[in-house]
Amino acid sequence: MTVCEEPLRILHLSDLHLRSDRHWLYHGVHPWERLTDVLVGVDPDCLSAQGLPRAPFDLTVITGDITHDEGAAVYEELAAELATLQSPVLIVPGNHDDPAAFLAAFGGRTQVGFIREQQLGSWRVIGLNSQVPGEVAGRLGESQLNWLDERLQAERDRPTLIALHHAPVSVGTPWLDRQQLEDGGAFMACLGRHPQVRGVLFGHVHQEYAGRTEDGVWLLAAPAVSIQFKSGSSLFAVDPSPPGVRWIELCADGRLRSEVWWLEGRGPNRADLTWSEGENS
Ligand SMILES: [Fe+2]
Repeated sequence: MTVCEEPLRILHLSDLHLRSDRHWLYHGVHPWERLTDVLVGVDPDCLSAQGLPRAPFDLTVITGDITHDEGAAVYEELAAELATLQSPVLIVPGNHDDPAAFLAAFGGRTQVGFIREQQLGSWRVIGLNSQVPGEVAGRLGESQLNWLDERLQAERDRPTLIALHHAPVSVGTPWLDRQQLEDGGAFMACLGRHPQVRGVLFGHVHQEYAGRTEDGVWLLAAPAVSIQFKSGSSLFAVDPSPPGVRWIELCADGRLRSEVWWLEGRGPNRADLTWSEGENS
C-alpha cells in the first residue's frame, strides 16, 4: 500500500547498542544478532516477498545509540555492515555514543556515515546532535537551534524531516519522559515557525511512538534494533518484543506515511503493521 506513486522510501533504525564483543548481552539479548535480523528482514528478497520494491532505500536514518559506551572499532564494523543496504545513511549521535569516535568514523564519509543534511527528491532531511556529553538527557543548544532556524528559513517550500536522538516531547513513559530533550519547547517552537517541516524522527525511547502536533507535524519514534522498553512504565522495564524498524514513504507533494515493522530472523512481520499515520497534507 502506498500513499502516492513512486514514493521515496526511508528506513529508520535506532538504538543499536553495539559493543565490539559480539557475544555481549544487553539485558539478555545480543545486539549484533538483532542487527543481523533487521538487515536480513529488509534485504531485497524479503522486501520483494512482501510485494515491495527490491530497490535500495533512498535513505537510511539511524537516530543514535549506535554503540553502548564504546568507540571507533564498533563504528567501523557497523559501517561495513550497513554497506549491504546500498543506501545513503544519515546518522545522528545518541547519549551512549562517543562524540570523538563518532565523528572520526563518520564525519568524512558521504555514502555511509553522518550526513547532516540530505536532499531527497523534493524533500530534505536534517540531522541534529542532541547529545550532551556525560548526560542521559539531551539538548540541542541555542547555536544549533539558530542554525536550524536559518536552514529552514532558507528553503521554506521544501518538505522537511528532522532526525535527532532524544524525544522532543513526552511519550507517556514516565521514567523516559524525565530524560527527553531539555530544550524541546524551543525546538517545537522553531518547527512552528516553519510549516514545511512535516515530521521528526527520533529514538532513545526504545518503543514505537507516533504523535502529531496541532500544526500537523508527525513525531515518530522507531523501536530499538536492540531491546524494547515497556511503554507506559513508571520505572525501567524491558519489553520482550523483537527488534523493530520504521518504514517511511514520502510523496513529492509533501505527504508522508509510515509503519513499524517487527523483525525476528524470518523477515518482516507485516501482520502487525501499523498504519498509524494518515496523509499529511
Ligand atoms: Fe538507547
